[in-house]
Amino acid sequence: MNQTKRDIEKLLDIKTTEIEKIEKNKKLHEESVDITLPGRKHERGGTHPITLVLKKIEEIFLSLGFKIEEGPEVELDYYNFEALNIPKDHPARDDQDSFYINREILLRTHTSPVEIRVMEKQQPPVRMITIGRCYRRDAADSTHSPMFHQIEGLAVDKDITFGDLKGVLTVFVHRMFGEDRKVRFRPGYFPFTEPSAEVDVSCLLCHGKGCRACGYSGWLEIMGAGVTDPVVFKMVGYDPEKYSGFAFGMGAERIAMLKYGINDIRLFFENDLRFLKQF
Ligand code: PHE
Repeated sequence: MNQTKRDIEKLLDIKTTEIEKIEKNKKLHEESVDITLPGRKHERGGTHPITLVLKKIEEIFLSLGFKIEEGPEVELDYYNFEALNIPKDHPARDDQDSFYINREILLRTHTSPVEIRVMEKQQPPVRMITIGRCYRRDAADSTHSPMFHQIEGLAVDKDITFGDLKGVLTVFVHRMFGEDRKVRFRPGYFPFTEPSAEVDVSCLLCHGKGCRACGYSGWLEIMGAGVTDPVVFKMVGYDPEKYSGFAFGMGAERIAMLKYGINDIRLFFENDLRFLKQF
């Protein structure tokens, strides 16, 4: 009896080992990993070129003593136009074809309304910049986008002059584009500044000699600016006899295009990784 029991146990042992071996082999085969395959790369995100430019601009103006302020993208007609000396029937409204929500509310067409909001809640001195999205009913092409970013600046104090505006913007251009850039102030028109100027920087490609990029003028326009109109101060309850100020506004996309040599504004919004990976 015992001998038979041992024999059976032995046979069982042999069979079990055999089955285990087959199972193990099968498993090894099924789970085999090709260790020669290259590993999967983790895609790392980067900073969008517009964000890079905005950060740099913030850094420059913070170092000059400006504070960062914010305002709404859905804005009242009053702040976007009226308080900036652009009444309902003013032709300057035509320059900024707008997205209206109703007769009194629209998507802001520029960041200048933030100037009004800031002046309403504080007394001079003011040194502020604000950065944000703006909207205009423009058809998209290589230089227009219905949504874009603006950087607005405002300084109000006693004895602020056009000279201060020139000084601040010249420092800005030198830090943004390089010390060898020249800055030019051309007479311009904005209803909320008087006098007003269009600010040009010498062409980054031809250094002012004239080439295709600058339309053979040697200059590229980068922003609008001027001395704050006393009418605007009256709107916010500042005494124009006591205070003066300057303001400027520029498009972040335009600055980025000039800084990095980008020829189509649509590239910023298409999310094409081949473009984004270059920054
Ligand atoms: N808000 C003006 C625009 O969008 C730019 C500007 C700002 C001009 C401040 C003068 C002063 O065209």
